[in-house]
Amino acid sequence: MCGIVGAVGQYDMTPILLEGLKRLEYRGYDSCGVAVHAEGALKRARSTQRVAELAKQVETEGIEGRTGIAHTRWATHGAPATHNAHPHFSGQGGESRIALVHNGIIENHDELRAELTGKGYVFESQTDTEVIAHLVDHLYEGDLFKALQSAVLRLQGAYAIAVFCRDEPHRIVGARQGSPLVVGLGEGENFLASDALAVAGTTDQIIYLEDGDVADLQLTRVAIVDAGGQPVERQVHTVHLHTAAADLGPYRHYMQKEIFEQPRAVADTLQDIESISPELFGDGAQAVFKEIDRVLILACGTSYYAGLTARYWIEAVARLPVDVEIASEYRYRESVPSPRTLVVTISQSGETADTLAALKHARNLGMEHSLTICNVATSAMVRECKLHYITRAGVEIGVASTKAFTTQLTALCLLTLVLAQVKGQSTAASEEKLLKDLRHLPVAIGAVLALEPQIISWAERFASKEHALFLGRGMHYPIALEGALKLKEISYIHAEAYPAGELKHGPLALVTEAMPVVTIAPNDELLEKLKSNMQEVRARGGELYVFADSDTRIASGDGMHVIRMPENYGKLSPILHTIPLQLLAYHTAVARGTDVDKPRNLAKSVTVE
Ligand code: M6R
Repeated sequence: MCGIVGAVGQYDMTPILLEGLKRLEYRGYDSCGVAVHAEGALKRARSTQRVAELAKQVETEGIEGRTGIAHTRWATHGAPATHNAHPHFSGQGGESRIALVHNGIIENHDELRAELTGKGYVFESQTDTEVIAHLVDHLYEGDLFKALQSAVLRLQGAYAIAVFCRDEPHRIVGARQGSPLVVGLGEGENFLASDALAVAGTTDQIIYLEDGDVADLQLTRVAIVDAGGQPVERQVHTVHLHTAAADLGPYRHYMQKEIFEQPRAVADTLQDIESISPELFGDGAQAVFKEIDRVLILACGTSYYAGLTARYWIEAVARLPVDVEIASEYRYRESVPSPRTLVVTISQSGETADTLAALKHARNLGMEHSLTICNVATSAMVRECKLHYITRAGVEIGVASTKAFTTQLTALCLLTLVLAQVKGQSTAASEEKLLKDLRHLPVAIGAVLALEPQIISWAERFASKEHALFLGRGMHYPIALEGALKLKEISYIHAEAYPAGELKHGPLALVTEAMPVVTIAPNDELLEKLKSNMQEVRARGGELYVFADSDTRIASGDGMHVIRMPENYGKLSPILHTIPLQLLAYHTAVARGTDVDKPRNLAKSVTVE
């Protein structure tokens, strides 16, 4: 989603701003721009192309400056067009004085737009952001820091803002409410960014601004005030973010690279765990786990499907009731809270606005015990939750989540084991068996990845389809949902997932010889029932594409295509069955020639509601 980089220094900052934008590209965007303070005037370049094109434009137009801001925009208000791209300028009498970029959504922008139009401001875009630029200009009386502090008092909604002013050449000012913003500290230079990754390589000294903070960055000083306008000291973190994630190596796309990184990512997430103990989830976890008598999982998209899978594990193994809620729905429903609930958020980015808001809602309902499974240790989600487990997937660049999902499942399996232990539902032997299977998982995933050539041949057939059905039963139903999501996200093929037993209650009407039906067939207690569901499909001429455990005795035949999974993996089978579905989606998308890593309309980290 949108990205911000800002810099104030003593030499031309445009290379740093553009490099920062490149590092934020993976989050998804549809336009980009940069503005600098150049010899007493504001200069900018904006583009609806990639950052590389913007960089060429900057070079051609000779845009240079020691103070500047840059942005990648993911359109919310107003189409992806150059005039809507940030930075937005404001000033009166035909002269631009303020340059501003913004992530988030200003909910009262209509009202402010009417007010500022009445004061003579002319709007050039349909964005909510331009309202903030004009508001800051209107409130400016020679001190940009004060002007932004006054402006944010008028804003409703979520924002991260970076702004500079023609009349104060060595200063940028930022504000945060609901959208992430960090300050990067340098020697005689300072930086603002929506993600520390944007300034990795330039500085590793990072301050994470808190909601309500306004920060004043000059060459040799940084000052911060909190929501009440009081000066505050925020902790400086040394953040080592490796940038190697940006290397594609032998792979064609980041998604393919990330699929193949899963054995490593899962192994890292398990961190050579010797034994199961509550402290894996942080200090004080044991007391919390003893206290709770139910679990509420909040998440979005793929992370939500990880939660749905975990429900099967936690209920079966730890014998605790589990609710799993789509975060964006949960906060608007009149649910019945219980204070003895463990609220678990699951998020790759740790910045998903819907999940953060749902967590806050649960807390407001009196549910204090929170835990997050998250891939970013420095994220808002980790800061907001009392307990956490950091998945070690590494930076995930492809918009479609792959290694983040399987590492979330790995962490959720550990949580299941810990809860079972605390609730007296496991024995040393049952615990050791599941832990052993977890440790063997990287090898087992490696064996499934070796199926790639067979999956490519299926993908070539899928490439000409416009619809697909995915079937699973029990704990493999969420995996069918995830498989369908992967296919639609990157290949744009319409895909639906159903628990196989539900087929005859409606979706069977869709089945014809033109409908591929992907079926997850593990050798579990539902296998015979699943085989009957498959017959229902065959009887209507549907083509079945089955990922079957080797001991299921499901064989290829007329209208029945089978790829054999190397081994039956018991409770952890959903993790293994995810891999071929990722590969099927990936190779189908490649065959259709879509932009696999940056699918249309989607963003990596969804920081607006
Ligand atoms: O960063 P999060 O895990 O909170 O993101 C949640 C969803 O936006 C994310 O999983 C999304 O569904 C992915 N595009 C799936 O591939």
